[in-house]
Amino acid sequence: MTRPVLRTDLCDMLGIEYPICMAGMGGLRGRYTPPELVAAVSEAGGLGVVGGAGIPPDDLRKAIRRVKELTEKPFGVDLLLPVSVGKIENTGGSGSPESPRDALRRTYPKHVEFVETLIGEFGLEKHRTERPIRGDGEAVVRKQVDVIFEEDVPVFAAGLGDPAWVVPIAREAGAKVMGLVGNVRNAMRQVKADVDVVVAQGTEAGGHTGKIATMPLVPQVRDAVAPLPVVAAGGIANGTGIAAALTLGAAGVWMGTTFLTAAESGLYDRQIDSILDARSDEFVISRSYTGKTARQYKNPVVDAWENSGLEPLPMPLQGMLMADFSAAAERAGRHDLVFTPSGQAAGLLNESRPVAQIVEELVSEAVSVLEAMPSRVTTSAG
Ligand SMILES: Cc1cc2nc3c(=O)[nH]c(=O)nc-3n(C[C@H](O)[C@H](O)[C@H](O)COP(=O)(O)O)c2cc1C
Repeated sequence: MTRPVLRTDLCDMLGIEYPICMAGMGGLRGRYTPPELVAAVSEAGGLGVVGGAGIPPDDLRKAIRRVKELTEKPFGVDLLLPVSVGKIENTGGSGSPESPRDALRRTYPKHVEFVETLIGEFGLEKHRTERPIRGDGEAVVRKQVDVIFEEDVPVFAAGLGDPAWVVPIAREAGAKVMGLVGNVRNAMRQVKADVDVVVAQGTEAGGHTGKIATMPLVPQVRDAVAPLPVVAAGGIANGTGIAAALTLGAAGVWMGTTFLTAAESGLYDRQIDSILDARSDEFVISRSYTGKTARQYKNPVVDAWENSGLEPLPMPLQGMLMADFSAAAERAGRHDLVFTPSGQAAGLLNESRPVAQIVEELVSEAVSVLEAMPSRVTTSAG
């Protein structure tokens, strides 16, 4: 059977068949991007990407090796880099796992009381997360980066921060670097860092996101970073969205929410159902779970947080604050109360499908929309 052709310069640069990248989605102990999902996207002709944020280096190595067992095609790993390596505090990294909890209670008693009240209101049993509660500090991120290049991962993506220090390491390893941005100022930082590809992520996107929508963002970033290729992210869930992104000047797309609903997804069924059943306006920006603006499904915890009048704590403290709540909710099987980062694209998604089918449908719809374009333009002579 012949496959439709949808090819841009990005495909040549990354060695992929279609200009479709799965977004690197870190969190939930690697469950947003299980190796099976990553490998399935690469096998389907796109670029699968492991969301490495929050995965300890040894586990990240295992995940990468598992992807390599499942596919020989190119794939990537995405990390959230500290804004400036050398300046970030490694909160709680060397102390006992108890110390950040005690510090939170002493410093932010009202926040801790909010979480305890929430646990009571939802009838959950108090439960302490088994993971040490702390962010990925500088030392962890450096080890994650070492693992990525020791394992010969061909594409590295930076979701936050400045990848300037990673680029020379990646070049040496023969890997490409992609940098995510939500505005032109940060796009210029990526150019300075000498990345290979800039991903322009609009506010519609799931997860941590900025204020500018994909439609005005992509052409601005394209003009600012030319001749570097730009990949569009945020709100893309079908072939029409891909055709639109290419028309805006993007060389490809970076899609998260759509792949979260795939048959190979690692999300809890309840989370997938929320994404498939909800309308676009039920995906709101809140700092409730992480301290940074993140678009997510509006569950009752988000509502309670927004009504609390509390100021969110800076990252990673808000995440630490919520860690025991999330652990209690997961233990009770209340998957409707866990953090479900996802975007407005959800309004376009109605059923869970295997990745191979998703990619096939994306490509054939994009091709037919693009092929129909010339017939939509008429020019009159004289
Ligand atoms: C569950 C989830 C987790 C995410 N985690 C990360 C991350 O760790 N690093 C990153 O660069 N982007 C992260 N993002 C943002 C994605 O990379 C991407 O920009 C976004 O999903 C694209 O928009 P869409 O969801 O509308 O397709 C995350 C998004 C989601 C939905």
